[in-house]
Amino acid sequence: MFEVKDYSGTKEKDYQLVLKQLDALLEGEKDSTAILANASALLNQFLDEVNWVGFYVWKQDELVLGPFQGLPACIRIPFGKGVCGTAVKERETQRVADVSLFPGHIACDAASQSEIVVPMIVNDTVFGVLDVDSPITNRFDEVDQEYLEKFVNIIEKHLS
Ligand code: SME
Repeated sequence: MFEVKDYSGTKEKDYQLVLKQLDALLEGEKDSTAILANASALLNQFLDEVNWVGFYVWKQDELVLGPFQGLPACIRIPFGKGVCGTAVKERETQRVADVSLFPGHIACDAASQSEIVVPMIVNDTVFGVLDVDSPITNRFDEVDQEYLEKFVNIIEKHLS
């Protein structure tokens, strides 16, 4: 049974704990739906001030909605469109302090004010993205980016 932890250390220590939880949770599993479903649930119960946590998976030539926690969202996102499509195009994390200032941002949940999208690369190919939205501006700092990239690295390891 999943054990709910008390995340009350420093931000870095709490992230290190959740990375360990993720690695343990995914141990021995190769099914991508199961991996992404549990990863989104783990992250959602860990992060505060977020309203959407989930994944889009690259299929043929577009992103398709994958496992997530939050309100129903847009299903398909083309290459280079929105924050997610830009993360795929650039193959780099997009950390957006104010989504209203990001050209082409796709508003799925009207509450979202800031967003971070981390691309998942498996065997040198884009597998999809992790997308986290917050109802406050400037929610994600360098520490969030560093650890959410490590979080994605663990998922990539289990998917490869
Ligand atoms: N805002 C994203 C779309 C996905 S939702 O936030 C869940 C984007 O601009 O790509």
